[in-house]
Amino acid sequence: MLWDGWMLLWNGCEGMEKEKLIRKYDKHVKMYKNVCNNRLLDRWRRPLLANAYGNILEVGVGIGANFPYYDRENIHVTGVDFSPEMIKNARQTASDYQINAELLQMDVEDLAFESDSFDCIVSTLTMCGYPNPTGLLNQFNNWCRKKGTILLMEHGISSNSVLSYAQKVADPLFKKAAGCHCDRNIMKIVEDSSLQIDYKNSYWTDIISLIWASPVR
Ligand SMILES: C[S@@+](CC[C@H](N)C(=O)[O-])C[C@H]1O[C@@H](n2cnc3c(N)ncnc32)[C@H](O)[C@@H]1O
Repeated sequence: MLWDGWMLLWNGCEGMEKEKLIRKYDKHVKMYKNVCNNRLLDRWRRPLLANAYGNILEVGVGIGANFPYYDRENIHVTGVDFSPEMIKNARQTASDYQINAELLQMDVEDLAFESDSFDCIVSTLTMCGYPNPTGLLNQFNNWCRKKGTILLMEHGISSNSVLSYAQKVADPLFKKAAGCHCDRNIMKIVEDSSLQIDYKNSYWTDIISLIWASPVR
């Protein structure tokens, strides 16, 4: 009885925290639009997403920043984001770039797909935010077809000791402002998952990682 009451309270607090986080991302839409218009991340999105094909799942789709880079003739995108404002803007981007897309306002933690549902799974700048990124990558392992591909562009901790120290110190503030962590070791997160890394590249003292991975069965 006492335990049930405690769990109810705990779940209620978690729900409130998640609502606050969603509202935070809602407010970030304008900033993401500026970043996209400046094509700041173009040099990394382009080579990574040149490998996206077929039935694509994109988690944390945001305002659809990756849509201009997809080969629109040959894809269908299932895009997921828990922020209603992001999804609203992603719908507009899909229409602007004539992307065949189904956009779902959902928490990635609540996703459930059959095994082998997708040819390709894309995550760009989202593994910094999820409570259990390795768990989600393990789900990718199941949702992606055996010969499919998982494409990641993520930000994380630097290999430079001064920068990484600053990132660790700044992380609580960063989380408060941006909604995500700046000190995650992305390579380790992927290595700890069931996925196989086929090719990787990193930039800016390993702060940015590009990873081409595949499922392991
Ligand atoms: C840093 S933005 C990246 C957006 C986009 N992928 C890009 O490359 O520009 C992170 C996105 O993940 C979404 N997100 C974070 N946690 C999420 C969750 N648990 N479920 C669904 N979406 C989430 C946020 O709303 C936000 O749109």
